[in-house]
Amino acid sequence: METENSVFSVPMIRRWLKEKSGKTSKLAKKISEWTDLNISPSARIVDLGCGTGALSVEIAKQNTLAKVFALDINDHMDHSLEIPENLEYNNVKPFSLAECNLNPDIIILSGVIHHVSKKQEVDFIKDIGDALPVGGKLFVHEHELSQSRTQIIERAMLAITEIISNRCLETMETHYNFLSRKELNKLLEDNNFRILKEEAVGGRYVTIPQLAGNNITLAEKI
Ligand SMILES: C[S@@+](CC[C@H](N)C(=O)[O-])C[C@H]1O[C@@H](n2cnc3c(N)ncnc32)[C@H](O)[C@@H]1O
Repeated sequence: METENSVFSVPMIRRWLKEKSGKTSKLAKKISEWTDLNISPSARIVDLGCGTGALSVEIAKQNTLAKVFALDINDHMDHSLEIPENLEYNNVKPFSLAECNLNPDIIILSGVIHHVSKKQEVDFIKDIGDALPVGGKLFVHEHELSQSRTQIIERAMLAITEIISNRCLETMETHYNFLSRKELNKLLEDNNFRILKEEAVGGRYVTIPQLAGNNITLAEKI
């Protein structure tokens, strides 16, 4: 669907739907609140796996004194977006954030962990930990599998949605690495993060309705 000359692409349509619903703006506001950007307005923020960049743009617009780095291993950027002055977009190699020396105070992962394979999830989180100073914050917005037997159905439904939306429409690689809240917390805690707070947010910040809920987590590098 996305060709070099096409006006519309799936990421753009999804961004438009999210914009219309105000969900991206609401998520940016929640991230700003949870990471205390009112107290540290000039924070350096990395939005890793920024995709179209829509969330990075909202965060930069809502926090004009902050410096936002929108990074992705692929160029899924919606280049029709108006980029605020305090936002820089770049492509990076996988697991090389620490090498970039961006000195972030805050790192955001929105819908990214399930795109990283199970085998590489520790390397991914370790790299993020290495990029942050002690006390640095990590905000995660991610699908959440329940701990009950419905997990099997949730996983299958999520995989089907991901196949249709990422593999067929956007040709985006995904590893279906969906985690329960317990698994995510363990991954973080085993790799030098302390969970500060978490909240089940259902479909509040996502465009496509899903059986599984979503969770937001704020962790601190220790
Ligand atoms: C579902 S999109 C999420 C986009 C955006 N964060 C959002 O909330 O709309 C997942 C993105 O993660 C990126 N990604 C996958 N593995 C990554 C990695 N190891 N490092 C950085 N980005 C990665 C993909 O290229 C893709 O753009």
